[in-house]
Amino acid sequence: MNFKRNLLITGGAGFIGSHVVRLMVRKYPDYRIVNLDKLTYAGNLANLRDVEDEPNYCFVKGDICDFEAVYALMQAYRIDGVIHLAAESHVDRSIKDPFTFARTNVLGTLALLQAAKCYWETLPEGFEGKRFYHISTDEVYGALPFDESRFSERTKYDPHSPYSASKASSDHFVRAYHDTYNLPTVVTNCSNNYGPYQFPEKLIPLFINNIRNGKPLPVYGKGENVRDWLYVEDHARAIDLIFHRGRVGESYNIGGFNEWRNIDLVRLLIKTVDRLLGRPEGSSEVLITYVTDRAGHDLRYAIDATKLKEELGWEPSLQFEEGLEKTVRWYLDNASWLARITSGEYEKYYEEMYAGR
Ligand code: NAD
Ligand code: TYD
Repeated sequence: MNFKRNLLITGGAGFIGSHVVRLMVRKYPDYRIVNLDKLTYAGNLANLRDVEDEPNYCFVKGDICDFEAVYALMQAYRIDGVIHLAAESHVDRSIKDPFTFARTNVLGTLALLQAAKCYWETLPEGFEGKRFYHISTDEVYGALPFDESRFSERTKYDPHSPYSASKASSDHFVRAYHDTYNLPTVVTNCSNNYGPYQFPEKLIPLFINNIRNGKPLPVYGKGENVRDWLYVEDHARAIDLIFHRGRVGESYNIGGFNEWRNIDLVRLLIKTVDRLLGRPEGSSEVLITYVTDRAGHDLRYAIDATKLKEELGWEPSLQFEEGLEKTVRWYLDNASWLARITSGEYEKYYEEMYAGR
């Protein structure tokens, strides 16, 4: 079959990537969507069961750091657009193991950029009609004080964790490929995402699961840090829009205009889970356990997404309380997904299935 476009989505078996793959596969049946993922602990094909048999979808198990393999894949599938989400994404892990973050996030992004550049240069039309879209985070901007300020696209990079330092470095490489080689790139920096299919090491899915199971809720420091939360499907919608209509060489901030102190968010989570489980309101408050703060813990993140709104008309669609209730319901209804994700069962199954391919 001849497809109108051939898109490579990296990290499509992860949390945000799986929502982007699902949206693209369903919305564009005339596009071929190739999902390249290494299936680390964070990547699970169980996140994509509902689209895995679609004729315009295919999965390739592989490492973005492997330049030769990525180049061959781009050639074999005649890739004309890249949406790059593959990364190591958890700050606490980056504090323990910074090298893995530098390898995947920096060298992996570089290998992907170089493979796209080299492959597209062999084509008669060159970079015409091509796009390399790099997904990044607001954490590259560092931390804000408790005031009215927000991160704009002009805010100076000031990363503090090994995770944000590696993402900042990858963003710089993407811009360098645009400025040096004219590669048609675009970069977005998004705030904290929440929703279904998030690996249960991140605050929201971890705490939902612990509240259900009556386990302690480890709140770092005094719980005063502030995050700006966006429902993951709203992020995926923004990615679709920016992939198609964002200006080449630009960057866009994506955020929910939705700031929450961690402790207030934890209390709302407790209220929601208790209510949905038919427990007395607030009965799980006793689970809150203040623990030693994360090293270098950024005080506050807040995104100004005005540029995206004004240029492309994007806005978050869900109110936070509505999105959070939807999310809590999903995790409560999908306990078997959680059990599979944490057991490694899917990794083993697909290891065998894809062995020798
Ligand atoms: P995730 O950890 O859930 O998923 C990452 C995916 O990348 C996994 O499927 C994993 O298997 C894959 N991967 C890791 N190393 C790989 C490698 N070497 N080769 C191929 N695949 C590899 O992450 P996420 O939360 O979905 O984040 C996706 C992207 O969005 C990341 O780039 C992250 O920095 C960015 N981001 C995340 C958030 C958030 O709140 N989660 C917010 C803003 C930006
Ligand atoms: P997290 O979900 O790890 O995202 P990020 O660090 O990328 O913002 O954490 C969100 C916030 O919740 C952050 O301020 C750290 C805090 N946190 C806790 O207090 N306890 C926890 O167990 C976790 C995982 C996070």
